[in-house]
Amino acid sequence: MIVCRSRQEIEKLRRVNQLVAQVLAELRRLAAPGVTTEEIDHLAETRVRAAGAEPAFKGYHGYPATVCVSANDQVVHGIPSKRPLVEGDILSIDMGAKLDGFFGDCAVTVPIGRITLESTRLLKVTEEALFHGIDAVKPGARVSDIGMAVQQHVEANGFSVVREFVGHGIGTALHEEPQIANYGPGGRGPRLAEGMVLAIEPMVNAGKPGVKVLSDGWTAVTRDGSLSAHFEHTVVVTHDGCDILTLLPADAARLARRSTHDDAGVEGSPVVQSRT
Ligand code: MF3
Ligand code: CO
Repeated sequence: MIVCRSRQEIEKLRRVNQLVAQVLAELRRLAAPGVTTEEIDHLAETRVRAAGAEPAFKGYHGYPATVCVSANDQVVHGIPSKRPLVEGDILSIDMGAKLDGFFGDCAVTVPIGRITLESTRLLKVTEEALFHGIDAVKPGARVSDIGMAVQQHVEANGFSVVREFVGHGIGTALHEEPQIANYGPGGRGPRLAEGMVLAIEPMVNAGKPGVKVLSDGWTAVTRDGSLSAHFEHTVVVTHDGCDILTLLPADAARLARRSTHDDAGVEGSPVVQSRT
């Protein structure tokens, strides 16, 4: 069953998702050459707890940290470590939190210093694919329309969609129904309705789609060693579309500016290429 949330529940979900987005924005600014992913994790946990919330991933099926940090050919679920980031890395940072009984979930992939043109393009196309998926969310649409939109954009740009991991409903649990694949034909599966809350999270490989999990039992990497990126937003279905609960006001303003000044619409969605 897919739950439709009440107005009050959506306000709680908005609060925790805005917290996750704010912390993620701070982590993105911290991520730079020389910084370790353990330092990023430590700041994340400090900020989440200071807000009266709890990390959502820590302890989930035994996961040991507040964030997942996946560099370069790591796809998702990388565990924070003492390895310092180096110029040219791409780093996906994924974080969930629980506040007042409700969960938030959001991920971004960030450039570490200057990165190659190919990496820049991978980040841009993956974030655009997420926004294409989000554009497919409205009452009456099917869950599978999201994956179709994501896959179309990714493959049109010569990259591939990871099949082994999916997005998900989210609410009083981190993972609720439905599962949201990032590929496949549309027009199938449950219909979306106002009040449903979804975490949409495409993972995109620069090479082939295959992944494998390392012996730590968590870290997923590309089989062919190619780079991989991951972006995630949590959205709520509204009467005529959806509202992105993990979008910060500053990013919303940037998105609106882009879509009014740029005929390409979602193609012009913001991708941060260098930190300010
Ligand atoms: N955003 C990912 C997800 O929703 C991260 C989960 S990490 C885990 O599955 F540690 F919680 F598994
Ligand atoms: Co998620």
